[in-house]
Amino acid sequence: MMMKVLALGLSLLCRLAASDLACSVTEEQRDPALKEMTYDIGYGEQTTLVYVEPDMDSMYNGNAPAKHKVVPKFNGLSVKFINMSNKHVRLSWEPRPGGTPNPMNKIAPFEASGTASFPTHSFIMTDPDTDKLLQRFAIQEYPENIYAYDPYIVEGDEKATEKNLNKHLSKKEKEFYRKWRDSLAFNEIYRNFTGRSYLANYLRDPPRHFLWSGEYFGQTHWVETSETHFVMTPPKSALGQLKTSKKRSLKEGETVALEEYRAPGQATMNMTLKVLSVAPRVFEIPNFLSQTEVDHILDLAGGVQLSRSSVGDVGHGYSKAENKKTDTRTSFNAWVQRGKSPIVDAIYRRAADLMRIDEALLRNRDSSERPDWPTKGSLAEHLQLVHYDPGQEYTAHHDFGFSDLSDLQGARFATLLLYLNDEGLVGGETTFPRWVNAETFDKLKVKPEEGKAVLFYSQLPDGNLDDFSQHSAEKPRAGEKWLINLWTWDPKYH
Ligand SMILES: *[C@@H]1O[C@H](CO)[C@@H](O)[C@H](O)[C@H]1NC(C)=O
Ligand SMILES: *[C@@H]1O[C@H](CO)[C@@H](O)[C@H](O)[C@H]1NC(C)=O
Ligand SMILES: *[C@@H]1O[C@H](CO)[C@@H](O)[C@H](O)[C@H]1NC(C)=O
Repeated sequence: MMMKVLALGLSLLCRLAASDLACSVTEEQRDPALKEMTYDIGYGEQTTLVYVEPDMDSMYNGNAPAKHKVVPKFNGLSVKFINMSNKHVRLSWEPRPGGTPNPMNKIAPFEASGTASFPTHSFIMTDPDTDKLLQRFAIQEYPENIYAYDPYIVEGDEKATEKNLNKHLSKKEKEFYRKWRDSLAFNEIYRNFTGRSYLANYLRDPPRHFLWSGEYFGQTHWVETSETHFVMTPPKSALGQLKTSKKRSLKEGETVALEEYRAPGQATMNMTLKVLSVAPRVFEIPNFLSQTEVDHILDLAGGVQLSRSSVGDVGHGYSKAENKKTDTRTSFNAWVQRGKSPIVDAIYRRAADLMRIDEALLRNRDSSERPDWPTKGSLAEHLQLVHYDPGQEYTAHHDFGFSDLSDLQGARFATLLLYLNDEGLVGGETTFPRWVNAETFDKLKVKPEEGKAVLFYSQLPDGNLDDFSQHSAEKPRAGEKWLINLWTWDPKYH
């Protein structure tokens, strides 16, 4: 609450990250995609910074193959449903309008819910007690992302609307209602200005975390880390669970844990981020993980036995061990805690350096560390280890969810994908079907390569959620696929 009041009262630049620190952010550090927007939603003129996609020529660094972006074949979008009533409503999906509805979830009064959908899909809101149909929503094309159930409004008649509100809602409920009205009013202005819907709730603070800029295809950034590659597996005795993730004990003269098993003669390692897509912001980071680290993670997954096809093979390839029971691996999915081993901890620290986020924010802290953050809990989830067999996929979805009317609006911020294998794998790409470009109607496809990382953001630099971050995992056509998801939140995790 405090934060929002402060943010609104301060100058434009302070809104960049909504912390005292951010007030010293200079123009050069300001994300180049942020533009000033003046708006009035009934409280007088206000100014804020909003995200505007770079034009085609900028995206191609002056060499666009065409001036116009192509409209992708894929026409899915994120849809958000708002319950502006003081009653629970049931949200259901209809395979066709009027068809048998598939119940999804109950939306509490003044809350919101959503999913990935397509134009022509149809949803209904019903009374959960009587099944009475309250409203049907036919999903429209992007950027028509937001669908609200408002039983009180009388279009074009403010007096009659107000009368309804006074009749049906308490003072507190009217406040919630008013917040959603503000959010919808802001959405209209924002959409006219930026071409996108405002998927967050008015007015969400910009991310507190650093966001790498992505101005044009092929642009690169680099960052140094002292968390260099493990090149030898330490003995089991050195690889136990960390006693506490808050501290780690280093030996005299050590700057990182288990230095003697890391790449020799390297105090630091250089990681390069290359822009694969400007909107959404997608970066590729080759050689993020070493072979030793990949082996260690697969080991933690319960002794997954993948044997190298041949030692010293250029591809560092894997092939399935003969004795592996593939039938039990279907849809394999496991969570690995940061404190599970010093190598996993090192991977979190390296990831933190890559994203330019303080590693302390990616673990539980006591109040002495980063008191400027609203929560003490880790802002990162456990590593999610995922396995796909041929034919298994994860259809296009978003990593963010929709918040209620709370001020903080915690949401997933960044997704770091780490590929653990490639040998024998055909297909299985990560795709971004809605990338903005001037070349192709097709999805952006990222090919899994052992040790490679992909970073993308679910949030825009202005705090809105990025509808274009929609992504999918294609089916492996042959071979199997192993990868890790590492999710970071801003500003809080749950
Ligand atoms: C709609 O209101 C009901 C009644 O309280 C509530 O339970 C439900 O969560 C609300 N739905 C949304 C989307 O807010
Ligand atoms: C948004 O643009 C449309 C079309 O130009 C216009 O009719 C509408 O009034 C605008 N809405 C706002 C809130 O500015
Ligand atoms: C890191 O790599 C980039 C190119 O990817 C290079 O420009 C930069 O100088 C390197 N930095 C260091 C410290 O090696």
